Amino acid sequence: MKQKTLEGKPIVQQFRIAPSILSADFARLGEEVTRVIEAGADLIHFDVMDNHYVPNLTFGPMVCAALKPYSTVPIDVHLMVEPVDDLILSFAKAGADIITFHPEASRHIDRSLSLIKDSGCRAGLVLNPATPVYVLENVLDRLDMVLLMSVNPGFGGQSFIPQTLVKIRQVRDLLDMYEGESGRKIAIEVDGGIKTDNIAAVAAAGADTFVAGSAIFGQADYKAVIDKMRQELASAFS
Ligand code: DX5
Ligand code: ZN
Repeated sequence: MKQKTLEGKPIVQQFRIAPSILSADFARLGEEVTRVIEAGADLIHFDVMDNHYVPNLTFGPMVCAALKPYSTVPIDVHLMVEPVDDLILSFAKAGADIITFHPEASRHIDRSLSLIKDSGCRAGLVLNPATPVYVLENVLDRLDMVLLMSVNPGFGGQSFIPQTLVKIRQVRDLLDMYEGESGRKIAIEVDGGIKTDNIAAVAAAGADTFVAGSAIFGQADYKAVIDKMRQELASAFS
């Protein structure tokens, strides 16, 4: 069957796997980052929780800075914090490559997005399952990525919310229209409950970047899981 392509490259190469270190061994984070990159990770997803915006507490910019030398791939910082702006600056300084935040957590979305861009990082907004897509409409020019939550934020190991597939399609249509007008591509990352048995459906709905925590770090062989995810994507798109 003819392989589908995007910008002349096999579409499967457009897909990125972003393991979330929330499910990694916190006592050996540096080694875990090295191992999962050797296993084929495209990004390291860094879940920042402040026990205020979400009912959990993880790690701050110092841990990001400590892991930066281990991360030979971009660090994708997901801020589940409120307020947002000061932590944007400290994570940018700590070596974040992509910074995403929840619009509900910022008093001034455009200012927060500008802080990310002016710090030299790529910027994204995170939509919770209950956050409507129209929040994106007036800031598309500022976005490099949209992160769609397929679980409610705060914990790894939750089940994928099936209604997310409809929302992914909605956002894909919005971003495709925007790309047609502006020539600018915006990535769609999906986060929460991504497994080898649902990643193809999530991609078919329009996602191109996949966060996976417990699916990968919960297994002994990280490469086997990532390879299986890529096989699932290849079989769905070739
Ligand atoms: C949840 C985090 C997710 C989570 C994904 O608030 O934003 O990134 O770590 O973990 P899994 O893949 O186990 O659902
Ligand atoms: Zn996340």
